[in-house]
Amino acid sequence: KNRIFSGAQPSGSMHLGNYLGAFRNWAKLQDDYECIYCVVDLHAITVWQDPQELIRQTREAAAAYIASGVDPKRSVLFNQSQVAAHGELAWVFNCVARIGWLNRMTQFKDKAGKNREKASAGLFVYPNLMAADILAYKASHVPVGEDQKQHLELTRDIAMKFNNDYGREVFPLVEPVIQKEGARIMSLRDGSKKMSKSDPSDASRLNLTDDADSIARKIRKAKTDPHPLPDSVADLAERPEANNLLGIYAALSDQSLEKTLAEFGGTDFAPFKKALVDLAVAKLSPITQEMSRLMNDPAEIDAILSEGADRAAALALPVMEEVRETVGFLGRRA
Ligand code: TYM
Repeated sequence: KNRIFSGAQPSGSMHLGNYLGAFRNWAKLQDDYECIYCVVDLHAITVWQDPQELIRQTREAAAAYIASGVDPKRSVLFNQSQVAAHGELAWVFNCVARIGWLNRMTQFKDKAGKNREKASAGLFVYPNLMAADILAYKASHVPVGEDQKQHLELTRDIAMKFNNDYGREVFPLVEPVIQKEGARIMSLRDGSKKMSKSDPSDASRLNLTDDADSIARKIRKAKTDPHPLPDSVADLAERPEANNLLGIYAALSDQSLEKTLAEFGGTDFAPFKKALVDLAVAKLSPITQEMSRLMNDPAEIDAILSEGADRAAALALPVMEEVRETVGFLGRRA
């Protein structure tokens, strides 16, 4: 079986973009792959996180994975900081990746904003840690949303350079696994911005913790344009908000955008939004309910994560031994 690794940052509320772009695909892939799913708390602290909140959000992220269908018995589920291999391999990759490569990362530019001098050094080397996450397990496939593609290309570059520099095929070249519908969910307030945990406007996203009333309100208030919905996908090109809402409907109903347009093309936004509210509530409330049930028993989540961390550490162990030997780190038993 091929091995999968993926993760999400516990840096805010998990939202519909995370669910459609990642979590629900993670759940589906469990049948065909050996899966490792991680709550990446080391990545989260590249920007400031309140310590108590970080703990709560780490548990909530794990609850979101499980509520979306990730089975902690079949898959390895843990939080990153419990497995030392991530930080260790990231350091080696800090010495493999070139500054020029990192300078091209668009996520760093977006997140650091204008004042790059004030960004943490961790934010800059963030993609090296991500490469370490994946390659510490020699995972070959990584299911993500569209926005992570550039980071996965860097992961391939790092693997290639490492193998090349040391003259050994230690690391595989990872393949992104990106589902077409749902790979890029946009903000409900602005169809040109992606839906994101860090958007200051809570109305811009459907959080997986939102109740039915909030979902309904946010969809009703979602930005639109003054025209009825078009009949063809081509006519959506210049209409980012219509494109996004129809795309969400398509992804949530597991049908193509074409089929969704066949249903709603020519109608006004109001009846379509009503149908979208019903669909979103039907699909998301079971997840919200399961998350809140899980969050009532943090001890159980913590136990799942610790058990997962033990399994993850055991999987990373032989890889890290190979890395140390390859790089020339003198070991205790050498
Ligand atoms: P993060 O925490 O931003 O997002 C987690 C996953 O959700 C996807 N996603 C989206 N998909 C569609 N539309 C959106 N608006 C949207 N927003 C987020 C992301 O693509 C991602 O799959 N760097 C990663 C975390 C990470 C990781 C890894 C991922 C760390 N190490 C190793 C894979 C493998 C991140 O910040 O994701």
